Amino acid sequence: MNKSITLATLALTLSVSTVAHSADTADTKALMGEAAGVVKAFGGPLKQTLVGAMKSGGPAEAIGACNEKAPNIAKNAAQATGWSVGRTSLKLRNPGNEADAWEMKVLKQFDERKAAGEKPGAISYGEVVEMDGKKQYRFMKAIGTAELCLNCHGKTLKPEVAAKLDGLYPDDKARGYNVGDIRGAFTLVKDL
Ligand code: HEC
Repeated sequence: MNKSITLATLALTLSVSTVAHSADTADTKALMGEAAGVVKAFGGPLKQTLVGAMKSGGPAEAIGACNEKAPNIAKNAAQATGWSVGRTSLKLRNPGNEADAWEMKVLKQFDERKAAGEKPGAISYGEVVEMDGKKQYRFMKAIGTAELCLNCHGKTLKPEVAAKLDGLYPDDKARGYNVGDIRGAFTLVKDL
């Protein structure tokens, strides 16, 4: 007698779950788009500051710009957007940028994706995760190594650059890179 009701219920359940699923996907897509905008709000001024400092004082002087201004630019981007923003890497210069377990996993995947032929500039990953019972959207975008970066992250550094870095970062591991390597990643979090 109620076979048709059961079928109707089933059909309804199916359509509801499909809707819920596509809404999820749409949300994640929106978050990913938002995250890409935050990366620009952070990465743009950071690169400008670096390039400006390199032009006016050379790499030894520009180290100061990275050292003092990078954390401030991150803070400003965070305040402006409501996202937490930072940079991390598998080979760190500043130990304060250390990756947590999730970031470590994603950084390793980025290296694998690059080895499989993807371009660093096109590599990113985002995911909804649960941390201490709270939902968060986490996003990372790979940062490639350009010619400019080799002044401070390359294999051979000018003596005055090496000396300044040694003084500021006695445990510096962020040297020896080549153009095209993944230097690290932007890492973003938004509480949902
Ligand atoms: C003038 C020297 C200099 C140049 C050029 C430079 N960096 Fe750095 N980089 C630094 C310093 C200093 C830090 C540490 C900043 C801090 O204390 O947060 C750093 C940190 C980083 C970090 C954060 C992770 C870590 O190791 O602590 C990334 C990622 C990074 N640099 C990428 C790049 C890329 C990509 C380029 C080229 C576009 C570049 N850097 C060019 C000096 C430089």
